[in-house]
Amino acid sequence: MPDAAFTPALGRADLDDYDRAIRLWTRESVWRGALLRQVVPRSGETILDVGCGTGSFAVMLKQAATGARIVGLDPDARVLELAAAKAAAAGIEVEWRQGFARDAASHGPEFDKVISSLVLHQMPLIEKPIGIAAMLAAVRPGGEVHIADYARQRSWLMRTLFRLTVQRLDGVADTQPNADGALEAILAETNAAAAHPTRVVRTVTGAISLFLVRRER
Ligand SMILES: C[S@@+](CC[C@H](N)C(=O)[O-])C[C@H]1O[C@@H](n2cnc3c(N)ncnc32)[C@H](O)[C@@H]1O
Repeated sequence: MPDAAFTPALGRADLDDYDRAIRLWTRESVWRGALLRQVVPRSGETILDVGCGTGSFAVMLKQAATGARIVGLDPDARVLELAAAKAAAAGIEVEWRQGFARDAASHGPEFDKVISSLVLHQMPLIEKPIGIAAMLAAVRPGGEVHIADYARQRSWLMRTLFRLTVQRLDGVADTQPNADGALEAILAETNAAAAHPTRVVRTVTGAISLFLVRRER
């Protein structure tokens, strides 16, 4: 277990309920399906899933491109055990590594694509730009970083739903900057086009936005 602190997958709630909660409360098939169509995993590619949690998206990536090498990274040893069990049950091979987003670059820069879903909203404000910079440094020149997360909550309804659900579990300190647009502001510093979500999925837990950042060649 890394010695630094982090918010676990379902915040204060039991990790074993994570997959069911995501399925029931986030329109999972809609945003994960949109993310998969955006990533377009291909055979021969090496793809890193940062904050992979229980491995749902890493497994989807491998099933969509069996000839791709998929690496899942997460600081939580227990969630990695759940992820490994999920991949084994599906009969597929994913490489699991323990570590933080800020260390993503130490696992690269050989990745064609780096993904992060529902991770940045749980990270302290100071860690968010560091994590994004490390993900960009982990991809090869011309590679891509794909993000799906609770970013700016644009309407009263989305802000209220986010407050009543995600913020109850994950707390306010790390999540409020996302609701206020911190992610878009950080991405704008990297590349103005990257700050515009490619898709926004409204859910009963708040809006989940997709982003795509291309690393220059
Ligand atoms: C809400 S879960 C999302 C899991 C998965 N990506 C998904 O789409 O279901 C957030 C995950 O981020 C991990 N995490 C928290 N802080 C992190 C950090 N600083 N770097 C990388 N992962 C982190 C947690 O351990 C947890 O597994």
